[in-house]
Amino acid sequence: NGEMRTWDGDVSEVSSPICVPTPEGLQRKVIGSYPLGTEKEAMEALDAAIAAYDNGRGEWPTMGVADRIKCLQTFVYKMSEQRELVIKLIMWEIGKSLADSTKEFDRTIEYINLTIDALKEIDRESSRFTMAEGVVAQIRRSPLGVVLCMGPFNYPLNETFTTLIPAIIMGNTVLFKPPKHGTLLHYPLLRAFQESFPKGVVNTVYGRGANVTPGLMATGKINVLAFIGSSKVANDLKKRHPKINRLRAVLSLDAKNAAIVTKSADLSIAVNECILGALSYNGQRCTAIKIIHVHKDVADEFLKLLSEGVAKLKFGLPWLKGVNLTPVAEPGKPAYLEECITDAKANGAQVVNENGGENVASFVYPAIVYPVNDKMKLYREEQFGPVIPVIPFESIEEPIQYQIDSPHGMQVSIFSNDPIETAQLIDPFVNLVSRVNINAQCQRGPDVFPFTGRKDSAEGTLSVNDALRSFSIRSLVATKL
Ligand code: G3H
Repeated sequence: NGEMRTWDGDVSEVSSPICVPTPEGLQRKVIGSYPLGTEKEAMEALDAAIAAYDNGRGEWPTMGVADRIKCLQTFVYKMSEQRELVIKLIMWEIGKSLADSTKEFDRTIEYINLTIDALKEIDRESSRFTMAEGVVAQIRRSPLGVVLCMGPFNYPLNETFTTLIPAIIMGNTVLFKPPKHGTLLHYPLLRAFQESFPKGVVNTVYGRGANVTPGLMATGKINVLAFIGSSKVANDLKKRHPKINRLRAVLSLDAKNAAIVTKSADLSIAVNECILGALSYNGQRCTAIKIIHVHKDVADEFLKLLSEGVAKLKFGLPWLKGVNLTPVAEPGKPAYLEECITDAKANGAQVVNENGGENVASFVYPAIVYPVNDKMKLYREEQFGPVIPVIPFESIEEPIQYQIDSPHGMQVSIFSNDPIETAQLIDPFVNLVSRVNINAQCQRGPDVFPFTGRKDSAEGTLSVNDALRSFSIRSLVATKL
């Protein structure tokens, strides 16, 4: 509600994936703490957001688009002043490399600027009139109310803002809870919010998700749930809402994106793109390639080239120049990945690259696991880390059937050098996932492109334009002539 609160209650320590020597061995470094707010503080934040919205009659939802844009431009200016500190915090909190942390910050500023341009265009549309059957109508884009925004740990700034920014700029008021890993980096931006927007437009909720968010949903006063994370948490939160049919959900969730490498593929392109797709930011991306189907006739050559490519990657602390692989963010991840590899070995697979799967402190050396089958965790589970499961196939029907049976439907990458074969593969896959990449890795951007998924992978669509639509409703002012 535009106030900075002091806090003398319980706090949660924030530990970095960057480890330091201690008497007990290498341990994650404690770099700060955040307030363990309770349901009481969350409800106060909700009341502030409801009061600022005031059933659509508040200062913010009734403010003209040009003035709302001015507030956002002030915010961009103030946010840019915090660039260096926020980038440093992204590196420390989630172990993202300097290059990728910088990209995350700059991409977010670019996203906000593109959003402003898109909003101006939408506003121009709504100043036009439409006439039909003797009725003249002005079609507006109106806000929806109070939005609860939660972003993921792997893009704690960028993906939080891909919902928060469009939500506020459309005239809604927002509660946002920073992710558990990636919390501190929001702190330098709180004052920028405070100084740029009217009271109650942006309200920050601190605390453990399980303690603060279910109660917010149970009030029935959240109009939009904008959540990027696991489908399990999203479904749980949705179910808490007493009038689920009145809740709009904008969700980006689990994925198990497959690459399909056919017999005709250019293997050097396939290998380069698969390495980028599977191992950028250590594979901790919803759009990462999380399983590779390779035609059995080219499997040996593909695995050899893939192992050679992986061996060239550089490990290091995030701020070192040219590093590709950095410490993994979540404390339990190295043990989980080890468990997946052990399970795969017990069911007949091998790690085919030297040192694959070895880990020390929070570093995990990428493991290429082959041949993966349906008895293994790695077949369906979203590993979200540097492990590359590879499955041989004989008929293209096998990867198609894998996708049909999958609970996920975000993206696939098809690697083929035969245009007829490529054309034949596009149709089945484009009806099963929301993006088919040809001879290229899976990814979300460019941000003007629609980003969504089928089945358990998403609800609603994000992109600069789609997000503005997701956080608003078309309403008419109609006059009979
Ligand atoms: O983790 C999910 C993100 O949407 C991935 O975005 O493809 O730009 O890395 P990206």
